[in-house]
Amino acid sequence: MTQAVTLKPFTPRVFSGVQPTGNLHLGNYLGAIKRFVALQETHECIYCVVDMHAITVAQDPDELTRATREVTAAFIAAGIDPKKQIIFNQSQVAGHAELAWVFNCIARIGWLNRMTQFKEKAGKDRENASLGLYAYPTLMAADILLYRATAVPVGEDQKQHLELTRDIAQKFNFDFADRIRALGLESAEYFPQPEPLIAGPAPRVMSLRDGTKKMSKSDASEYSRLNLTDDADAIATKIRKAKTDPEPLPSEIDGLKGRPEAENLVTIYGALSNRTAEDILREYGGGQFSTFKQALVDLSVASLSPIGDEMRRLVADPASIDAILAEGSARARAIAEPVMREVRAILGFIQS
Ligand code: TYM
Repeated sequence: MTQAVTLKPFTPRVFSGVQPTGNLHLGNYLGAIKRFVALQETHECIYCVVDMHAITVAQDPDELTRATREVTAAFIAAGIDPKKQIIFNQSQVAGHAELAWVFNCIARIGWLNRMTQFKEKAGKDRENASLGLYAYPTLMAADILLYRATAVPVGEDQKQHLELTRDIAQKFNFDFADRIRALGLESAEYFPQPEPLIAGPAPRVMSLRDGTKKMSKSDASEYSRLNLTDDADAIATKIRKAKTDPEPLPSEIDGLKGRPEAENLVTIYGALSNRTAEDILREYGGGQFSTFKQALVDLSVASLSPIGDEMRRLVADPASIDAILAEGSARARAIAEPVMREVRAILGFIQS
């Protein structure tokens, strides 16, 4: 006997997550957070501080707490409204771990073996990586599908994980198609195929020290990235020291080919100012790099300083941040729990 449950159609819904590890940088802002802010105008959004993903590599507990509050503060300082949208930390909604386990039993080892991020993060010492780091992408699929989210804004580095999420959704729908139908859903699609939203102006911000490497929290050089909490002096120093080549900026886009550092700085300028590369090169092409860099310093300080200041103000009151996370977690749970009940029913688990 199958238990009767009512399966509802998909609500258009955005979900994304950011890890509370290290400092947030310009890549996180342009590739993800700035776009989270824009999406709240048109979508119901759920933004998650993924503390359970963070512990796939060793974390200092106090530092994890601090970083969780800091990412929450960054969301709010960048302009996400926690009253309208849901902001919460992953560990507070048990469904993430529960659904991840189900997906560990759906995903194939061969699929996980293809994940390039695991290979990069585990490095040569793969035997010594945590099992959690290996299974990271199934937890990420659970994050998204627990809310049956339909759109996921991320930077380009997350593309492969999104493809895996779609594969897991498809296999679950396929494996349990009869059961899902028997439980009363017209079509056999229980989980949606979430759409990756990667096409922002800066889906891959590169290191300021090496235009062929992605800007990353784990780069040993502080000069490789602009942090959201950097002050005006740090921003200016890092941009002035940013690697460039000896040629002046070109006047046409074609002239950026084979010049990754120059291209990266133009991309950053464009994403911060909402201007196209053509437009920027029309203004700065042919001129000295130093003139363009100064303009980029001014723009970066004007864009990032207010966010950094607001983040500092918010983290100075941890009780208020924790209250926002508690409220967001309760709202997230209210969406997740009925989904988990349905998933358990689909699987055949007896539940009270
Ligand atoms: P994380 O915490 O590494 O990064 C957060 C977001 O920032 C983007 N990003 C970048 N975008 C452009 N250029 C860069 N250099 C750059 N570096 C980082 C990332 O693509 C990401 O969108 N696995 C995720 C977190 C996650 C998640 C999820 C995301 C967990 N569950 C569910 C979406 C949906 C991660 O480690 O992001």
